[in-house]
Amino acid sequence: MSQYILAIDQGTTSSRAILFDLHGNIHAVRQQEFPQHFPDSGWVEHKPADIWSTVKSTCDEVMAEEFGVNDEVVAVGITNQRETTIIWDRKTGEPVYNAIVWQDRRTAAYCKTMKSSNHEPLVHSKTGLLIDPYFSATKIRWILENVPGTRERAERGELVFGTVDSFLLWKLTGGQVHRTDATNASRTLLFNIHTQQWDEELLELFDIPASLLPEVMDSSDDFGKITEGGALNGVSVLGVAGDQQAALFGQTCFEVGMAKSTYGTGCFLMLNTGDKALQSEHRLLTTVAYRLNGKPTYAIEGSIFIAGATIQWLRDGLQLISNASEAEPLAEGTPVDHGVYLVPAFTGLGAPYWDPNARGAIFGLTRDTGIKEIVTAGLQSVCYQTKDLQKAMEKDGIRPITLRVDGGMVKNNWVMQFLADILGATVDRPSLVETTALGVAYLAGLKAGVYGSLEELAELWRCERRFEPMMSKSDRDRLYAGWIQAVHKL
Ligand code: G3P
Repeated sequence: MSQYILAIDQGTTSSRAILFDLHGNIHAVRQQEFPQHFPDSGWVEHKPADIWSTVKSTCDEVMAEEFGVNDEVVAVGITNQRETTIIWDRKTGEPVYNAIVWQDRRTAAYCKTMKSSNHEPLVHSKTGLLIDPYFSATKIRWILENVPGTRERAERGELVFGTVDSFLLWKLTGGQVHRTDATNASRTLLFNIHTQQWDEELLELFDIPASLLPEVMDSSDDFGKITEGGALNGVSVLGVAGDQQAALFGQTCFEVGMAKSTYGTGCFLMLNTGDKALQSEHRLLTTVAYRLNGKPTYAIEGSIFIAGATIQWLRDGLQLISNASEAEPLAEGTPVDHGVYLVPAFTGLGAPYWDPNARGAIFGLTRDTGIKEIVTAGLQSVCYQTKDLQKAMEKDGIRPITLRVDGGMVKNNWVMQFLADILGATVDRPSLVETTALGVAYLAGLKAGVYGSLEELAELWRCERRFEPMMSKSDRDRLYAGWIQAVHKL
């Protein structure tokens, strides 16, 4: 008989079910992409039914095909795209509108008004976040203002709100459980990260009824028993965390100063600041990294909206490559100082610029610019954006003691070397780069008693390859200055 932990990783473009053995090795993975909906300029939606059906079928598949009659799943963990907002009917479970995705910019004008009325300092001091369409609160408000009847229904207590973790918990438990964890709550703009409670003043400010909100639990906690999960019925969900926080946990960045950077659709650099919620003076976010036994650990985060999605765009939009893996040899055959800068501000700019109205651009084109320069510029843009975050952290007086990378893009050795070069810092790639799913498996395993301590988990981390900076400081400064110029031309 073998024992496993099943991690559900519900991301922006796909859902995955991953079975881990109790040593943190992957036993099996199933993945399904689902459609993205762009009903208007800057709008991004998902159908909640697609989110649920892809989660359900990847779980069903992995259990049917990779799980023996005598095997056991000791716990389930859920990690998810954060901030994405769903409101549904408490009785019927029927969503009142599509999921409004974290990338969606429809509330930019409202956010601007809130900022000009000088609400940002209060919001920032309580939540660690800035007023931006990225976070859930203004998306919730948009639904209540624009979907007929929803405000009245919400006020009568008939509706509930959840980020994707809450929605999945609700579905998996047949509507018995309306809960979230502190990491997901900390991305809503409604959660006071210091008191660890929903904040009445913020609810009033954004005009959101408290009855909509889920109960906030630790990240490693008993969230409820699965009743609608087929072969998973009877197993408890014992870990929940937003995907970036789960990646930090999976990278075992448990000490103050340890940082990870995940290159998925976007890029999210997160640095553990321990029990101190450091407030950035340079437009980085303060967030809950994880909460264990009621005790929050905090992180500073830099959020970049478009990283791997640039490569997707080069492949599907411009059709310059037919496979992401073609980018690496193209870049290898291109000098790093080819002079082209691609700024992928497709959905505005995140940290440290926070400009929801910015849009992408390519600069420095000449008559001899070809596919390889544009593709290389796309890869470099991801590294330059990470440099922006490093600079902002430095201005806040923070220097990571380690930088561990993960996510699909880190397989590209050229990008990792350029990243180390442009940061002037060592970059460590672990042997297991599925750290998001691993992180939530660890959280669930801690609650199940499979793991005894964070120290025990830290022992499991293995470096597969270390990238050392090789570029001279003058080259680095010159290349980065070109990027800054390009961003300022937007
Ligand atoms: O904050 C958004 C983030 O959680 C999305 O992550 O990996 O689905 O792009 P990902």
